Amino acid sequence: MADASLLGELRGVRAATPSVWFMRQAGRSLPEYRALREGTTMLDSCERPEMVSEITVQPVRRHKVDAGIFFSDIVVPARLAGLGVEIKPGVGPVFDHPIRTEADVDALPPLDDVYDAALEPIREAVRLTVAELGTTPLIGFAGAPFTVASYMVEGGPSRDHLRTRALMRSQPEVWARLAGWVAELSGRFLRAQVLAGASAVQLFDSWVGALSEDMYRTSVQSHSAATLAHVSDLPVPRIHFGVGAAHLLTPMLEAGATAMGVDHRLRLDQALDVLPPGLPVQGNIDPATLFTSEEVRFAEARSVLTAGSRAAGHVVNLGHGVPPDADPQVLTDLVSYLHEQGAQRA
Ligand code: CP3
Repeated sequence: MADASLLGELRGVRAATPSVWFMRQAGRSLPEYRALREGTTMLDSCERPEMVSEITVQPVRRHKVDAGIFFSDIVVPARLAGLGVEIKPGVGPVFDHPIRTEADVDALPPLDDVYDAALEPIREAVRLTVAELGTTPLIGFAGAPFTVASYMVEGGPSRDHLRTRALMRSQPEVWARLAGWVAELSGRFLRAQVLAGASAVQLFDSWVGALSEDMYRTSVQSHSAATLAHVSDLPVPRIHFGVGAAHLLTPMLEAGATAMGVDHRLRLDQALDVLPPGLPVQGNIDPATLFTSEEVRFAEARSVLTAGSRAAGHVVNLGHGVPPDADPQVLTDLVSYLHEQGAQRA
């Protein structure tokens, strides 16, 4: 499995055939997912290793993507650590008690042996999944401190992350303790997945685009770096991804990534102009093209391949997650189209 071409691309070894996976490839766009999840809440399903493994493998089986992404959520670690959090369908993660004061941070559960033991269903799910996937690599993931902490501070999804950004500015020491706690929380979750068999990781900082480069460097970068440091001694590529984060590519790379995920707002060749030579990239087909004609979609796929062609390595992905109402057949056809482009290139 160590020779899977997707892992090669992430290490700067180009293959003739493009490698592709999709963020949110597991989930509501698949009828087999909806059938399996029926009657189980999202977060309960994440604690059932057999279910997690089956859901992770479903899109690999159906679409023939080149990697599985571990089925879980960025707030699963918080729940395993003992916090009250649910995922409200159609809304997103909602915390029982928002974290906004020093006393709230004091009351966060310790991340000790009890938390390590609570990660056992994650390890078990990874082991089952890796056995099932065979030669297809499994990508592990975690949420970055800013994105996870923003759900904790706001109490739920938010457009502007105003309370979070206000906390950073008005009580920087309280923010630093909270972000440090999340770094440890997500870092241990990431390490557990790799030690159980995941062969690459992705750190999701989905909402980090709300920050200026100054704010990122001052208040966030060291915490994201602390998260990634939990796996930096292990031989796995580390992808770092943010939405609307074109202005943060360099500081996010400097947080300890070995490859950068790019969303659909920035062309890959423009990202490569900013990034150091030799850096593998991932991305970035506009998810909107899933709702266009095949002609438009395949033209976008070719343009993404061209834009990524001078990178040291390129893993094709969408610019953000698969929307729940995407037609699964469109995804399957897109994967086979991308794989065929390789046959022509070779
Ligand atoms: O296929 C995969 O990508 C694997 C699993 C995965 C999920 N969430 C499953 C999920 C991953 C990698 C995530 C990460 C995640 N979770 C992120 C970062 C990635 C991104 O999309 O930016 C974020 C911001 C979250 C928080 C979150 N969890 C949101 C915003 C939502 C959607 C809420 C909704 O109903 O619209 C969730 C729920 C969630 N996570 C679902 C899935 C499959 C939907 C749950 C359901 O089936 O009802």
